[in-house]
Amino acid sequence: MASSTIRRVDPARSKTAAAAGGRTLREYSFSDADFRALRDLGKELTGISLGESKRELVYARVSRRLRALGLKTFADYRRVLKTPHSPELVEFCNALTTNLTSFFREAHHFDYLRDQFLAPRLAAAHGSRGSRRIRIWSSACSTGEEPYSIAMTVCETLPDWQQWDIKILATDLDSAVLATAQRGSYPADQVRGMAPRRVSRFFNERRDGAAVTQEVVPALKRLITFRQLNLMHDLPMSGPLDAIFCRNVVIYFDKATQRALFAKMARLQRPADLLFLGHSENLFDVSDDYTLIGRTVYRRNDA
Ligand SMILES: C[S@@+](CC[C@H](N)C(=O)[O-])C[C@H]1O[C@@H](n2cnc3c(N)ncnc32)[C@H](O)[C@@H]1O
Repeated sequence: MASSTIRRVDPARSKTAAAAGGRTLREYSFSDADFRALRDLGKELTGISLGESKRELVYARVSRRLRALGLKTFADYRRVLKTPHSPELVEFCNALTTNLTSFFREAHHFDYLRDQFLAPRLAAAHGSRGSRRIRIWSSACSTGEEPYSIAMTVCETLPDWQQWDIKILATDLDSAVLATAQRGSYPADQVRGMAPRRVSRFFNERRDGAAVTQEVVPALKRLITFRQLNLMHDLPMSGPLDAIFCRNVVIYFDKATQRALFAKMARLQRPADLLFLGHSENLFDVSDDYTLIGRTVYRRNDA
């Protein structure tokens, strides 16, 4: 690694320099052709659209892979990616994803789930009219905070949840975040915003020297099945799904990719089933299969 040539790039100048053919002084030379090749492959594999403004992001994230593999140039890295069945493709996809998440992120969605979906189901089930089967999909679950938040909401709302047939499917493209999700062990800081009663019910505290972690209790974990799934591919589940959480992922996709995805999701839902999007996402010009019924909450239309 040519560490003696590393220079800090002034972000204000980096675009111009990059546009000049990658002659920016940085650890690795990064040409227009490198950017275009990685951008196109990234789009093909993940659906993530990486416009010109994401050039520095691509450089920063992928150069970590060059370092990890001990490669000297992006051309070498592109050759590695082209090797048939290259295991590096997974790492490349993982490098491109943005995994920011938190417990009860956009809390109004969990309130909606409790008040407008679970509580009416509970009332109907007690009148022995309703079904006790619940299927929820967290479709870009990242490190797991979203599906665990769904599971906590279910357990808090349905006192007899163990007598219900409840399955929460949690999927993500990124194998690394999915492993964290499956482990269900979080630094204490990450649960700090939650009510203490919630934390003590759903987490076991572990101390290892100065490090404190909170581990999700096995009963909560058992409600969730974690699987790797690329939203660009056919969706292997059969449905019907009462609710789909598809939050803060389609913001990275172009409209055509979003249209294809929501058409597939709509086929897994019945009229009145729910779809939750992220706070800056919407279905305008993307899908006619859903109607907006709350803050980024959609209802599947009648067929
Ligand atoms: C910003 S996180 C959102 C996490 C969570 N849904 C939330 O709102 O807090 C976006 C997630 O989408 C995943 N992702 C990106 N492209 C994907 C694809 N094609 N298929 C499945 N997951 C994808 C990323 O790996 C990342 O974990």
